[in-house]
Amino acid sequence: MKRDLKRRAFLKNAAALATLVGLPGALTFANADRNELLDAACQTLPGPGKSVIGLKVPPIKEVKAAVIGLGNRGEEHARLLNAVGPGKVKLTAICDIRVDVANRTLDFLQKNGGQNPAVYSGKEEAWKELLHRDDIDLVTIATPWEYHVPMALYAMQQGKHVAIEVPCAYTIEDCWKLVNTAEETQRNCMILENVCYGDEEMWLLNMVKSGVFGHLNYAECAYIHNLKELLFSKTYYYKMWRIRHNEARDGNLYPTHGLGPVAQYMGMNRGDRFDFLVSMSSKQANLDAYAREVESDNEFFNRTEFKHGDMNNTLIKSQLGRSILVQHDVTTDRPYNRINMLAGTKAFHKGYPSQMSVQGKEHDFLSDDDYQEYRLQYAHPLWTKLEKEAEKNGGHGGMDFIMLWRLVDCLNRGVPLDMDVYDAAAWSVVTPLSELSVQLGSVPVRFPDFTRGRWAEQRELGVMANP
Ligand SMILES: NC(=O)c1ccc[n+]([C@@H]2O[C@H](COP(=O)([O-])OP(=O)(O)OC[C@H]3O[C@@H](n4cnc5c(N)ncnc54)[C@H](O)[C@@H]3O)[C@@H](O)[C@H]2O)c1
Repeated sequence: MKRDLKRRAFLKNAAALATLVGLPGALTFANADRNELLDAACQTLPGPGKSVIGLKVPPIKEVKAAVIGLGNRGEEHARLLNAVGPGKVKLTAICDIRVDVANRTLDFLQKNGGQNPAVYSGKEEAWKELLHRDDIDLVTIATPWEYHVPMALYAMQQGKHVAIEVPCAYTIEDCWKLVNTAEETQRNCMILENVCYGDEEMWLLNMVKSGVFGHLNYAECAYIHNLKELLFSKTYYYKMWRIRHNEARDGNLYPTHGLGPVAQYMGMNRGDRFDFLVSMSSKQANLDAYAREVESDNEFFNRTEFKHGDMNNTLIKSQLGRSILVQHDVTTDRPYNRINMLAGTKAFHKGYPSQMSVQGKEHDFLSDDDYQEYRLQYAHPLWTKLEKEAEKNGGHGGMDFIMLWRLVDCLNRGVPLDMDVYDAAAWSVVTPLSELSVQLGSVPVRFPDFTRGRWAEQRELGVMANP
């Protein structure tokens, strides 16, 4: 009898879990057992279209761009696309559900260069009307996570290229939808992982590809950012959307800032791939504690039982045997850190602050002078070319400007984008896979292969091949 009850409880939880992480065909998993859940998570789904690996579209002389979502992040997209400048890109339309927010960006654009995009606002689905316009080549999406996929799918179906904020999707099924729709429509679907364009990250990428690190075996990376105050703010995020994810879900909710650059150093989807992960979260205490301190009219005042553990550690093993530690901590008082640690057979690097050691040094990092020599010798050509503009326009130290400049430049030149939909899916799917692992007691969970076998092809990253 007792065992029966336990089994029934597991089945109920399994069904809830299948829905939470968005297993393809979740509803049929009402009776799933643990192994069936794990098998479903990594299954390769058939796709109706042809692969978009290396997708090239005809050069677009001046890209006509639109931005959907003009909050903290989207306002930056509009500002920086404006800075990339007429001749390369023109903003034809912008959208935010909030009229005042949309008008704030319009006002900025009119006063800074005189662009005058059409404004879509004031209703839940104004973005659909925007996407019906025929003077848009590229749409960037910076809305709360739950809107990313429906907006991106519809945009591609209307023939637009899309670039989506991070993470692009947070269920397995939605990752597949992005892949299948990009293939069906033969449109670009890029993940806007700005950290891949950081000065330090591009320098490291250049060193790795030039052989300075030898063979790469191990990396550590993270998103460690104390967001407590912002999560509980009644106004910072639209309708407090972000804390609701911490309330309901436990795993690595925001993996790509740390992982994206590491995936590029290690050539994931370009000769290697993520094979499986195990994930473990610590107990949650920080959000409960903070909830006691906020004003009593805050809807999260005195709330307890937030699901998200204070620290999530996820370990990924690659097909070729590499391993990567990815951490997620948005609630402790640890200062901001993405770690950016990389160990090869010839060299080692860690970030915060950036320090490096090279073969033969037993105890010490390189001296400042030696370190600077590496910085100079291996500075990435894109940063060398755009440094002044990046400094002037900023955006996380210039990386945001470089990312958008580069996205537009690839479209202007008709060369493949640096990150494709398979990167978007493989980096974003860490979230639901880590949730599954955590819920099932930190068991190994295999990755789906979104490339359907093509990960093994050795391909050079665009930003190295055509900087
Ligand atoms: N890459 C980075 O460094 C970085 C930094 C911050 C945020 N982000 C990402 O950017 C995205 C947005 O985050 P944010 O901090 O700007 O959040 P935000 O709440 O400030 O902005 C979201 C915006 O979407 C708008 N919106 C909501 N529903 C809409 C709808 N139906 N139609 C049109 N607009 C709608 C809201 O009014 C709001 O202005 C998230 O995916 C987040 O993870 C990335």
